[in-house]
Amino acid sequence: MRISVIGCGYVGLVTGTCLAEVGHQVICTDNDPERITALRTGVVPIYEPHLDAMLSANLRSQRLSFTSDAGEAVRAGEVIFICVGTPPLENGEADLSAIDNVAHLIATEACQSKLVVEKSTVPAQTGHQLKRVLDVYRRNGGAEFRVASNPEFLREGTAVEDFLHPDRIVFGVDDEISEKQLREIYRPILERQFRCSVHLSGCPATPPPKLVVTTINSAELIKHASNSFLAMKISYANVIADVCEKVGGDIKEVTRALGLDPRIGPRFLDAGLGFGGFCLPKDVQAFIRLAERSGVDFGMLKEAEKVNKRRIDLFFDKIRQALWVVKDKKVGVLGLAFKANTDDIRFAPSLEVLRRLLAEGAQVRAYDQAAMRRTSAIFPQVHCCREPYEVARGADALLVLTEWEEFRQLDWERVHNLMARPLVIDGRNLLNPAAMIERGFEYYCFGRPPEKLTAVPAPAHVPKVARVSASAPFAA
Ligand code: UDX
Repeated sequence: MRISVIGCGYVGLVTGTCLAEVGHQVICTDNDPERITALRTGVVPIYEPHLDAMLSANLRSQRLSFTSDAGEAVRAGEVIFICVGTPPLENGEADLSAIDNVAHLIATEACQSKLVVEKSTVPAQTGHQLKRVLDVYRRNGGAEFRVASNPEFLREGTAVEDFLHPDRIVFGVDDEISEKQLREIYRPILERQFRCSVHLSGCPATPPPKLVVTTINSAELIKHASNSFLAMKISYANVIADVCEKVGGDIKEVTRALGLDPRIGPRFLDAGLGFGGFCLPKDVQAFIRLAERSGVDFGMLKEAEKVNKRRIDLFFDKIRQALWVVKDKKVGVLGLAFKANTDDIRFAPSLEVLRRLLAEGAQVRAYDQAAMRRTSAIFPQVHCCREPYEVARGADALLVLTEWEEFRQLDWERVHNLMARPLVIDGRNLLNPAAMIERGFEYYCFGRPPEKLTAVPAPAHVPKVARVSASAPFAA
């Protein structure tokens, strides 16, 4: 099928590339001409595993192309996927101006009938507004517009795998022709009939994706409800971690058992610095506003948002209690991205931590395998290092802010020897506390009580400062 994708951000690029990968003819456009020029030569502006190789392969096979002529892209596709950004407005509502602009563009440029699919995350009823705008501004009487919603559930860092091997695909449609077209587009994925270049030695034996066909309004709500539920789940785990610190439980033990109940499930129960990124925080806000406007007070979700904001305060309390005076301390930061396997720092907890450290006069050095360039652009005062050991050299404290596997695998003995004071404050509960103590670190994390952790016998070489605490008392 001939497909157009409008918006070459993260969602648009993954959608366009993967649809080409499963056999469609895809043309993508974006209002940033430099981005299009780069993409035409196979230069991908985001860090996303598998994307650059797949994009280049599909450029070469001419199933995928890029144009800065938006009119050309609109005219080319039988089906148009709208993948433009819907950033938050000051009041938390989603800014739909880009969707509105694209609707005008399609209405004025299309010469033939089109199916217009919302892929961007939008509030309920946007599909119906979109249909209205398309009909009102339609230039060519012969062109009929149908609208559908096809929400994405792509996680940064695993977006290509998520697209090709989803657990569910949702079509929000109001007519049979749209449903038929969408089924045709997704048939290779639904029936697993494509050569998967991500898993060359065979795809994981997961069940085939479930197809859920709903109304447009329901599909739009499914996206908001999913992300908001995940956010509430994380905040719930974070509050349990706080209770663990007070009453002496271990959050890892609690969430492990909690997650074994199939009604709850094990994922999104990792306590720590809380959720960041461009989706969860903004989707939560937008859903709260949407509910409010329709007369529903979504108190639970507001509380989840509050809990999330408090994570940084609690983390900073741990830093201040451990270091006492932050001014002039050499603080090393491991991880800047909002989560592992991405270079994205939008709404990353690290940004607020860096801002506070700098405001208090700390000397900050940082390392992240993907997100340093973006961070330097915002915080030129932060010295970015080429490798984690350089961050550790002479540091009074190391903060773990992103759960990159690389940090778990560090030679921590070497890190210990390099630091001025072997103090680690782990905002992601990434490291093994007992092992850290054994190596002689003073180790702080979330929701793991000092008694249990210090119960591990320490070897003779452990220096006097070595101890661990979730509630981070003043360092000896
Ligand atoms: C999210 C949704 O998962 C995805 O379905 C949607 O399409 C886009 O938004 P993403 O923003 O890539 O994906 O990140 P996600 O993996 O959901 O993580 C969000 C944040 O929550 C990260 O900051 C992560 O570190 C944090 N998180 C996640 C936790 O703090 N604890 C957890 O247990 C899981």
